[in-house]
Amino acid sequence: MTTFLHVSSSARKHNSISRALAKEFTNQWHAKFPTDKFIHRDIGSAPPNFISEEWIAAVFTLEEKRTDKQNSLLTLSDMLIKEITESDIILISTPMYNYGMPASLKAWFDQVIRVNKTFTLDLDRGDFPLEPTLSGKTLVLLSACGEFGFDVGGVREEMNHLGPHIRTASKYLGVDEYYEVRIEYQEFGDQRHARSIENAYSTISKVIKQIAGKK
Ligand SMILES: Cc1cc2nc3c(=O)[nH]c(=O)nc-3n(C[C@H](O)[C@H](O)[C@H](O)COP(=O)(O)O)c2cc1C
Repeated sequence: MTTFLHVSSSARKHNSISRALAKEFTNQWHAKFPTDKFIHRDIGSAPPNFISEEWIAAVFTLEEKRTDKQNSLLTLSDMLIKEITESDIILISTPMYNYGMPASLKAWFDQVIRVNKTFTLDLDRGDFPLEPTLSGKTLVLLSACGEFGFDVGGVREEMNHLGPHIRTASKYLGVDEYYEVRIEYQEFGDQRHARSIENAYSTISKVIKQIAGKK
C-alpha cells in the first residue's frame, strides 16, 4: 500500500486551480489503487505557526532535557513530521505567490525540516554538513500561477523561486524523486490558459503512470 501526504496551500478554498489539479491527481490515483491511503494536510485553511526563538531553542535542546513547555512547543512539528515519515509520496498543491511559495507552505517547511529529526548536522562532513535522515520519498508538485514562462528556458525562468526552492528543501524530507506539473496564464484567462490546463491534466496521467510503474 502506498501512503500519500497531500499538502494543499492555496488560500482559496473555492475556485483554486492548484486544489482542482490535486483533486484530479487523487481521483485518478484512487481509480487505479482504491486501497491506497491519503493523509490531507490543508495548510491553506489552517496555516502552521511560524517558528520562534523559543522553538529554535527547543529543537536544539536534547530530547531528554526538554522542559514540558518546550515539548508542547514542538507538538505541531512532531505531528507534521510523523505525517511525512508515514508517507511514501508527498503531493504538494500550491499557488505561486510573489514568485515563491505561500507563507503557509514556508511555515510548514520550517516546522518539518528539523535538526536531529529529518536531518543531522555533522561538521566532520566538511562543507556540506547536513544530511537527511529519511530517504526514498517521491514529491509531486502541482502548482498554479498567473503569469507564464517559469519553465527552464522560459522568459521568467529567473523569477521562478517556487519549484526550485521546494525541490532544494524537500531533499531534507527524504525526497529523491521529483515531478512537477504547473498551470500557467491564470491572470490572462485566454486560450493559452485553457491549453495550459489541458496539458497539465494530461501530464497528470503520465506522471501517475510513471510513479505507478515503480510501485
Ligand atoms: C497574493 C498573490 C500573489 C501572486 N503572485 C503571483 C506571482 O508572483 N506570479 C504569478 O505568476 N502569479 C501570481 N499570483 C497568481 C496566482 O499564482 C494564481 O492566481 C493561481 O491560480 C493561484 O492558485 P490557486 O488558483 O490554486 O489559488 C498571485 C496571486 C496572489 C493572490
